[in-house]
Amino acid sequence: MRPLLLAAMILVSVSGCSQDQHDHPTLTTGEQLFNYHCAECHGEQGTGNLFDGIPANILTQKNQQAIITYITTDTGQERTMPVFSAMPAEEAKIITEHLFTLQKTYDTKGSQIKQLLIEP
Ligand code: HEC
Repeated sequence: MRPLLLAAMILVSVSGCSQDQHDHPTLTTGEQLFNYHCAECHGEQGTGNLFDGIPANILTQKNQQAIITYITTDTGQERTMPVFSAMPAEEAKIITEHLFTLQKTYDTKGSQIKQLLIEP
């Protein structure tokens, strides 16, 4: 196992519970909420970090409802990403809207994002 992946997994197990805390009244936009809850792993552009085994979540094929479910519901499937079971549905919805905004950047500025994928 790559040392970086191992470090990421230790980080997940140590900080896993604090990521699902939603006492953050000053964070209101999808961008702020995404940067707070998701960017630590996926990066602010949603490009992930291939070397740490974090996928570019902007490349997801899931639709909005499926992503919301993916974020907030424990389906029993083995995964590295934490389940944000305490996240209000509205917050998850706002975050996915920001993810789709990032996705549009990917569609229109392919070369720029490719560079980000190589150098997250
Ligand atoms: C601790 C790191 C971590 C955090 C924090 C995190 N993710 Fe992930 N995410 C992952 C990993 C790793 C995967 C790949 C699947 C797996 O192994 O869990 C993933 C996969 C995904 C996928 C792809 C699912 C698919 O099948 O297409 C989406 C979408 C996603 N994450 C969205 C989010 C959003 C939105 C947030 C914030 C609410 C978030 N992630 C927070 C690590 C993280």
